Amino acid sequence: MTVTADMAISLDGYIAGTDVSLDNPGGDGAEPLFEWIHGLASWRERQGMTGGEENRDSELMREWFDATGAVVMGRMMYDTGEEFWGDNPPFRAPVFVLTHRPRPTLVKEGDTTFTFVTDGIHSALDRAKAAAGDRNVDIAGGANTVRQYLREGLVDELQLHVVPALLGAGLRLFDEPGAGRRDLEPIRVVHTPLATHLKYRFAR
Ligand SMILES: NC(=O)c1ccc[n+]([C@@H]2O[C@H](COP(=O)([O-])OP(=O)(O)OC[C@H]3O[C@@H](n4cnc5c(N)ncnc54)[C@H](OP(=O)(O)O)[C@@H]3O)[C@@H](O)[C@H]2O)c1
Repeated sequence: MTVTADMAISLDGYIAGTDVSLDNPGGDGAEPLFEWIHGLASWRERQGMTGGEENRDSELMREWFDATGAVVMGRMMYDTGEEFWGDNPPFRAPVFVLTHRPRPTLVKEGDTTFTFVTDGIHSALDRAKAAAGDRNVDIAGGANTVRQYLREGLVDELQLHVVPALLGAGLRLFDEPGAGRRDLEPIRVVHTPLATHLKYRFAR
């Protein structure tokens, strides 16, 4: 069982733009973080669309989909994604949403369920592990959620898709003075014109 975190990030360290809200899910200026994904065949397939590029980036996206048996996310990522994902969300797996605001479990098409967890990050992870079978649990975002799991040392592998853009402002992934030193072992680098995909394992 591997716990992964997998994020698109600008070269200057932002995972969303400024002024993120329900009406502005990625925030202002965030287009470079996400637009490269929308043309990938594997991503389009999961959105119920046809076509798209069958390239190395698409293979990496498919690898993530195939490897992930359950997902943990924060309520902000859920709330800003809910409408976009629609009735058949791309996860096709149980999703556990960290929140202070309880809500009944939602059962969507294609085996995606959203379970709202109010008793903390360990509970959400335990439930995701139980649901994932022999596949990975991915801590999908956003920054607030991934940071909590990183701080507790609960992430085994971190993959960053570094897009060739400077956002200049927005929501930072690593923005926690005093978070402490962590050493990482590089596992893989895949470089394409769309992104540099960096994969690391945390040293134990
Ligand atoms: N670049 C990428 O790859 C990527 C990936 C995913 C998301 N994103 C972006 O990230 C942004 C959202 O990130 P974010 O950092 O603002 O928020 P987030 O991590 O998605 O959600 C934070 C919220 O989750 C709930 N929560 C988190 N930890 C909790 C805990 N321990 N117990 C109970 N509730 C908890 C709280 O919501 P309540 O108190 O309201 O319940 C909290 O305000 C969006 O713009 C999204 O587009 C980017």
